[in-house]
Amino acid sequence: MKNPVLWVVLIGISIALIQQGLPVRSQGESQSDNKQMDNITIRQGETLFLSCSQGDFVTHTAWLNRSSILYAGEDKWSVDPRVSLVTLSQEEFTIKIEDVDVTDEGQYICAVQTSSRPRTTSVHIIVQVPPKIVNLSRDLVVNEGSNVTLMCLANGKPEPAIVWRMKSPSDDSLSSDSEVLDIPFISRYRAGVYECTAANDIAVDTQTVELTVNYAPSVSDGRDVGVTLGQRGVLQCEADAVPEADFEWYRDDRRIFNGLDGIEIEAAGALSRLTFFNVSEADYGNYTCVAINKLGSANTSFVLYEIIEPTSSTLLQVETSPSVLEMTSSDLEQTPLQNDLWEGPGAVQDGNSGTSTVFNPFCLLIAILQLLLKF
Ligand SMILES: *[C@@H]1O[C@H](CO)[C@@H](O)[C@H](O)[C@H]1NC(C)=O
Ligand SMILES: *[C@@H]1O[C@H](CO)[C@@H](O)[C@H](O)[C@H]1NC(C)=O
Ligand SMILES: *[C@@H]1O[C@H](CO)[C@@H](O)[C@H](O)[C@H]1NC(C)=O
Ligand SMILES: *[C@@H]1O[C@H](CO)[C@@H](O)[C@H](O)[C@H]1NC(C)=O
Ligand SMILES: *[C@@H]1O[C@H](CO)[C@@H](O)[C@H](O)[C@H]1NC(C)=O
Ligand SMILES: *[C@@H]1O[C@H](CO)[C@@H](O)[C@H](O)[C@H]1NC(C)=O
Ligand SMILES: *[C@@H]1O[C@H](CO)[C@@H](O)[C@H](O)[C@H]1NC(C)=O
Repeated sequence: MKNPVLWVVLIGISIALIQQGLPVRSQGESQSDNKQMDNITIRQGETLFLSCSQGDFVTHTAWLNRSSILYAGEDKWSVDPRVSLVTLSQEEFTIKIEDVDVTDEGQYICAVQTSSRPRTTSVHIIVQVPPKIVNLSRDLVVNEGSNVTLMCLANGKPEPAIVWRMKSPSDDSLSSDSEVLDIPFISRYRAGVYECTAANDIAVDTQTVELTVNYAPSVSDGRDVGVTLGQRGVLQCEADAVPEADFEWYRDDRRIFNGLDGIEIEAAGALSRLTFFNVSEADYGNYTCVAINKLGSANTSFVLYEIIEPTSSTLLQVETSPSVLEMTSSDLEQTPLQNDLWEGPGAVQDGNSGTSTVFNPFCLLIAILQLLLKF
């Protein structure tokens, strides 16, 4: 028997094919010599069992892949190590193909020759492949205003459907049912994590891409800060920027450095804090915070001004407090002692050393009020 194909093509009897050892269909009593079985669908990587029933008086039997013989009886013709014989008996002839791949797709034929009637049965093998994303855009860092294109290519059988969406922050308005997601003139609000999903009947593959959008700093307006002499004072500057801003502090046009003159500069993410541990007269003034990143800079100014606290522990301190004088200046216009009070700081300072102003009716009024408040 030099060429089994010759007899294989001529023969055939009742055959059944089974996949993975289970009968998919029994041949029945068909009189047809050439039988086409239902397609068998199998996943890539699995083991395929091809089984065909035999019967009495079998003289020759073979399994073929298209027109090449895999096994003729117990003789292996295939050189493929994945192909092996499982059973060859009076009842069945089963071979297996391990680690099935897409190239194994196609027509397989079992040919059986008996003394009475030759017959062939063929089966079409379909190999399915779970989706796999094979080419995905890398994580991207772009400047605001750039045109961004995200790409996601996937393999699989059947051909997977590809969907892009913005995952976090979740934004359903930003999605695409194709391999490409175009984001023209990207804004900072479109920075985030994008997800590509490739799905077919068998499985789903998902990958994500992180998109960073750089933009120049903007700083919130500085709020002037009032601090009493000798107290702790803090100027706080906040910048919105990607990448995060670096900060510089200026007193007028002079740069301020950390650790000098009882001053500390500390950065905490988007914030920078300028702390005076003990505010002195010379510290009052105009400060500028400059936030810088590679795309630009922004600045804002703060005035550190003096608050003179009306410490009310003694009557004399109350009297010397300019803020109290201001508050009551309109009332004072009605009093006959108005001129004494409006002589300026000198007159007030006099009150510190002397006792005459204790009898000032205005001060008396304050003293009475304070006594009332204490009870
Ligand atoms: C079997 O698969 C082939 C190839 O995919 C197809 O042409 C044929 O229609 C299928 N037959 C059945 C019965 O599904
Ligand atoms: C079946 O034939 C095809 C085409 O020649 C080949 O690529 C594949 O490896 C064969 N499979 C087996 C299991 O022999
Ligand atoms: C991925 O896709 C890009 C754009 O089409 C292409 O330039 C690149 O060669 C692809 N890489 C691979 C590994 O297929
Ligand atoms: C972005 O795309 C628009 C057209 O969609 C084009 O006019 C513009 O020049 C592109 N910008 C850049 C930076 O490539
Ligand atoms: C603040 O500085 C003044 C003058 O230098 C000093 O007299 C005072 O003790 C300081 N206060 C504190 C809390 O360090
Ligand atoms: C503080 O300094 C900045 C920058 O030098 C200037 O624009 C701003 O007007 C100053 N503010 C005050 C209150 O002087
Ligand atoms: C602060 O910003 C203004 C424009 O907003 C700019 O003219 C000025 O030079 C900046 N100052 C510093 C110290 O960067």
